Amino acid sequence: MKSIETLRDEHNAVLFVLDSLEPALTAAEQGVPVPADVFTDVGRFFSIFVEQCHNGKEEGAVFARMPASSTTTALTHQLEQEHENGKRLSAAYTAAVEKYTPGDAASAAGVAKAARAYGVALRAHIDEETSGLFVSMQESLASEDDAMTAEFDRIELEEIGAGVHEEIHAMIESLPPRIKPWADKAKVEA
Ligand SMILES: [Fe+2]
Ligand SMILES: [Fe+2]
Repeated sequence: MKSIETLRDEHNAVLFVLDSLEPALTAAEQGVPVPADVFTDVGRFFSIFVEQCHNGKEEGAVFARMPASSTTTALTHQLEQEHENGKRLSAAYTAAVEKYTPGDAASAAGVAKAARAYGVALRAHIDEETSGLFVSMQESLASEDDAMTAEFDRIELEEIGAGVHEEIHAMIESLPPRIKPWADKAKVEA
């Protein structure tokens, strides 16, 4: 199903960002002055790409279509709660990044702790959706694939707009080369 492929691609983008971010966190924790914009760009990715766009698609186009049954209702309820929890973890990350000073290991430790807490939650949530939500979509929503895909496109345009979408994808690709020089410093200093 096209709708599942779209969500899976977006999950892969989230996992790519989390994996790319980890060496920046490790370096910053050692006092390497990783530029703050690495962390603020990831914060923007969390709030626009993950919370507004991706979670918006799931809630507005998928959960809302799930047939009412005790199993699917329990599943979508749990996933919605995880989205809510994600918003709190994302806000905590943003707050930690605001206090971050490049080269200051203590403020970097706050960023690393908040980023990893959200990362753990995001990875578990993605596993949950891959094994639970996608199977339910195949079972119950195969005939609604086109309608869901059309709504995904509408949500994407309304929530983030074509220009911002391109910009965020370029930002995702930029992360590993931007982080590498600082990660390399951490290895030398460690
Ligand atoms: Fe989700
Ligand atoms: Fe998801």
